[in-house]
Amino acid sequence: MDVLLAERYQTTSLLGVGGAASVYRAVDRNLCRDVAIKIFNPTTSDDDDYRRQHTETMLLSTLNHPGLVTLHDAGMYEDADGHASGFLVMELIDGEDLRKLLKKGPLQAAEVAQVGADLADALAYIHAQGVVHRDVKPANILMFHSGDNDTRMYPKLTDFGIARMVDATMATATGATIGTANYLSPEQAQGAAVDGSSDIYSLGLVLLECLTGEKAFPGPIVEAALARLLRDPGVPLWLGPDWVELLTLMTARNPLKRPSAHDVALLLRTHSDDGSGFSIVGLPPESAPAAAPAVGHFPLPGLVGESGITGGIPTGGMITGGVTTGNLHIPAPPSQAPSLG
Ligand SMILES: Nc1ncnc2c1ncn2[C@@H]1O[C@H](COP(=O)(O)OP(=O)(O)O)[C@@H](O)[C@H]1O
Ligand SMILES: [Mg+2]
Repeated sequence: MDVLLAERYQTTSLLGVGGAASVYRAVDRNLCRDVAIKIFNPTTSDDDDYRRQHTETMLLSTLNHPGLVTLHDAGMYEDADGHASGFLVMELIDGEDLRKLLKKGPLQAAEVAQVGADLADALAYIHAQGVVHRDVKPANILMFHSGDNDTRMYPKLTDFGIARMVDATMATATGATIGTANYLSPEQAQGAAVDGSSDIYSLGLVLLECLTGEKAFPGPIVEAALARLLRDPGVPLWLGPDWVELLTLMTARNPLKRPSAHDVALLLRTHSDDGSGFSIVGLPPESAPAAAPAVGHFPLPGLVGESGITGGIPTGGMITGGVTTGNLHIPAPPSQAPSLG
């Protein structure tokens, strides 16, 4: 579908289709640059869809962060049949969303640490503004290189379609508005009130999938939603103690046990920038010799137990100091852990 919107934006190709909208590459004729245009599915003015579009527009227009997609413009479009659709004009992210990227396989641990820190920074920013994203999942994370010679990828979080202010009254959060239940927090799956810690849970599942290449809670919507009420995601021990401890905390069923977005960002950034941690110290089961040792384990008091790490953790490591930020203990870097990440 090639259309001219607001006598200015000429769509050229389809970039992606989500639950509520289609996103097109387009040329902004006034500024002679490429943009992305999100055209919502046609809707009436008094239903949930319309509220969602309005929320997304209003929230995005007030948010400004390098980890978030920038909104340039918004308007209404009427198709040949007279159906009205809202549209958003956004910065074009020339890359792939994380869902497509993960189809090619897991990412390197060092890359996951960097991308995780960037996303946690973006979440810390929106949480400080009183906004909960509520739909953190790979399809809503756009990955790009900022230049041809760039050595790393950067993420941008998009799709504020079901985001809301923390203290806003609970409206609907039904399956109809959510394309997948794979990344919902337990409190979301129960339809309970959510705050920023719900986004931390979802980010934990996303980072886990980036490392393992597998969804922690796969399957259709009801099955996936129920599973997380009954069990914690399996965080494999071969990821090594740094990841096991962080991801276990992020995906704790009790929201109060999860670290803040800022703590997650600090932890991942510190250890990814100096290369001292968050490398994978074991091997996935297929390639590992029986009982592959996880080297450099630093048990954290109060972490192992309720959150589901049971059995089989090698105990050769020692607590050798570290830092405590908020409710997260940052272990000192392992001294002899081999880095396979
Ligand atoms: N600014 C953008 N630049 C490039 N691709 C985008 C952009 N925004 C969205 N997309 C693509 O379009 C898909 C759907 O967009 P999204 O905003 O998530 O729509 P929905 O609300 O329907 O889920 C994304 O998964 C992504 O692949
Ligand atoms: Mg989406």
